[in-house]
Parts: sequence; C-alpha cells; structure tokens
Amino acid sequence: MGLFLNIAGWAVRLVILAVVVGGMAGCTMLGLNYASLDTAGKTEAWPQIEGPTAKALVRNGSNWVDELEDNVFGPFPIGINSRVIEHRVVDPAFANGKGQLEEYTIQMGEEPNAVLFNLAVVYPVGQQNTPLIVYQSFCGNRSAFQTTDLSEPLTPGGVDVCGGVDPGFSGTVISKVFGEYITSPPFEQILDRGYTLAHFYASEIVPDSKDTAKAALSAFPAGEHGQPTGAVAAWAAGFSSAIDVLKTDPRINASQVTAMGHSRHAKSALVAGAYDPEIEVVIAHQAGTGGAALSRFKKGESVKSITKDYPHWFDPAYRRFDADGPFTTPVDMHVLIALNAPRHVLLGNGRRDVWSDPNGTWRAAIGADASFEAAGTQGLDQDGMRDRNLSASLSFYMRDGGHGIVQEDWDTFLTYMDNAFGRTAAE
Ligand code: GCU
Repeated sequence: MGLFLNIAGWAVRLVILAVVVGGMAGCTMLGLNYASLDTAGKTEAWPQIEGPTAKALVRNGSNWVDELEDNVFGPFPIGINSRVIEHRVVDPAFANGKGQLEEYTIQMGEEPNAVLFNLAVVYPVGQQNTPLIVYQSFCGNRSAFQTTDLSEPLTPGGVDVCGGVDPGFSGTVISKVFGEYITSPPFEQILDRGYTLAHFYASEIVPDSKDTAKAALSAFPAGEHGQPTGAVAAWAAGFSSAIDVLKTDPRINASQVTAMGHSRHAKSALVAGAYDPEIEVVIAHQAGTGGAALSRFKKGESVKSITKDYPHWFDPAYRRFDADGPFTTPVDMHVLIALNAPRHVLLGNGRRDVWSDPNGTWRAAIGADASFEAAGTQGLDQDGMRDRNLSASLSFYMRDGGHGIVQEDWDTFLTYMDNAFGRTAAE
C-alpha cells in the first residue's frame, strides 16, 4: 500500500511537472515571455568570422556556402533560368487608383523539371525607375492583394491558406493574433512611398507541406549547385526569378531591389541575399531558427523541434546539427547573415517573440558584423538590442509585441529601404 501511494504521489508530481514545462513552452510559442536583452554568459557565434576569414568570405564565399549547404539548407538554387509565359494587366487602378496591378506567369527551369508560378506586381501609377520589393509569403496572391481578379495558385493541390478575398473567421483571428499586415501589406503606404511590390506564394514554388514537398524538390530544376533538398533554399529561387523577369522593365530600378519575408519566408530571403548579387536589401523579419538566430544552445525553437515539425524546410543533415557535441558542425547562422555582406540586412524582431529567439539573432548579428566591415560598410552600429540604427548596413530592430507584421514593422521597413537606397535623409 505504502509503495502504491509513493508511486501515485510521484505520478501526480510528474503530471504537474509536464503541465508546467509544457505550459512554459506554450507561453514561449504564444509570446507570453520576454526575450532576454543581455548577452552576458551566453555563447558567442561560432566559428568566429574575423580578419582574413571575413575577407575571404566576402571575396568568394564559396567555402562558407558549402558549409551552409552541407549542414543546413542543401544546395542553393543558383543559376536557374526563368521566363515569362504570360503577362496581363489585372487592374490599372488598384489601391484607390495608386497602383497598376499586373500578373506574370513565370516558368522557372526547363521541362521536365520546370516550375510554374504566378507573380503579382503592383507598380506606382505613372512612375519610372522605382525601387522593387520582392515579397514571399504564405498567402496566395488573391489573399495578399484581396482580389479574385488574380489567378488561383498554380501548384497542383496548392490552396490559398490565407482564405482568399473573404478570409472569414479564421482570417480575422489570424490578423488579430499575428498583426494587421500578416496577410496583406499596406499597399497605399508602399505605393505612396514610390515602391513597386512583387509578391509570390511560396507554396507555388514548392508546397509548404511535409507530405508533398519531397516529391516537388526532386522534380525542381537543378541549379549550378545541384538539386535543392530543402524548401527554404528552393523558395529563394522565387526571389531570383522575380528579379530576372522584372529587372529590364523601365518602371523598375534594378539597382534598388529588396528581398523580403517574414518568419519561414525570412529564412529564405536571407538565403536569396547570400547568393543573388542583384539583391541590395534583405528584410528578414523574425527569421528565427534556421534563419537569423544561432542554432547552438537555442532558446525558443530548437533545431530538434524545427526539423521534426518541418522536415521539408532543410536538408536532412540539419537534424544532425550539434548531434556529436555543440561545436562539431562547422557553421552557424551568423555565416548566412555574413554572406549577405556587403548588402543591407535588416533583422526584425519582437520582444515577446522568444520562439524566434531575438537574443540568438542579436548574437548572430554580432558574429556576422566582421564580414560587413571587411566589405567596407559600417556594419552593425547600435548600442544593444533596444537601440536602432536604420542607416546601418547590418541592422537589428526589435519592437514590443510578438510574432507577426504590424504597422510599426512596415514603417521601419520603408525607412530602412529609403535610407539604403538614398531616398531620404536617415531617420
Ligand atoms: C513556426 C516555426 C518557425 C517559423 C514560423 C513561421 O512557428 O516553428 O520556425 O518561422 O512557423 O513561419 O511563422
């Protein structure tokens, strides 16, 4: 009897412990905790990028690209050709007459390994030589632009997860939780500031599904580095493809191009910035694990958890990251940021978005800084995680609140781009 009571007592304790631990993890995901602002006692980015290494990284980058491909992302989609199959004007007076909305059906690669996807582009009416934002998201073009005049996703079985033009109850809940601009960007503000915005739905490139992504990746066009093995790297091809087809349009200034994404799409914007020299600014908002945050000794989402929940995002090798000890894998995410030098990188964060690990992102930025400086730019130039310098070539920004896209984010993105492109005086 005594033994039974003892076992029962321990069982109750274990259940309570599981609830508390589970609850804490849930709080992290739900944004109820705050990111630490302190780097004391926390691991620095490893391996260190410094001096001649930084110069080598900036000069050709090949060694570090290999390490990232072999240990995290699989081959980057370098050198895949794209062409326009169809192009039409959808609405010459979009966003209260401020923009002209057009749709391009693009073929990436050659048959039998070709991918077809739709790019929706809104140009500020009557303007030439405008800066271009290429934006990848988890919404179909109809949801992002709130119009059925655009086509449905072309990927077989692809559905617009954001609910189309009538997002209904789930759409309303999504924007309450993840911010007003999680599905649709503030078009009028973007157009008023003179920017062209091109949007594509990542799942049209490779479906964001662990069940179907593998087959899509095997059928994906192989680039100069081989067949992509992870969706994050394959999605990056969408940025390059969009740039390739738009850069000769006189309405676009081909030297003022931004690749932008939020969360999983920010991971892929950083990959695109690392290999595509036509990208001048990368806005990687809340890129988190497998994006901008260091993978070792992770707070928030662990490598184990991301590779279990989203095995299709990365090369299978990422699962083994750290497996034989914390410093056995010869690379970490600061190298991905560093490969974006000498261009401009804005790393967006939310204080309560501990899941994406702002502190690990800040330490990754510190670790990447040497490469920006070696490239002759001023790099990271701010006093801590709460400070901001929206003119720096490498900039970390953290607002209050959690995971999502709110007005303050777009205000910050636009100011950062204005500064990077020399469009206004620095804020
Ligand atoms: C999940 C995932 C993150 C990812 C995020 C998103 O939370 O764990 O790694 O960044 O989805 O894309 O919103």
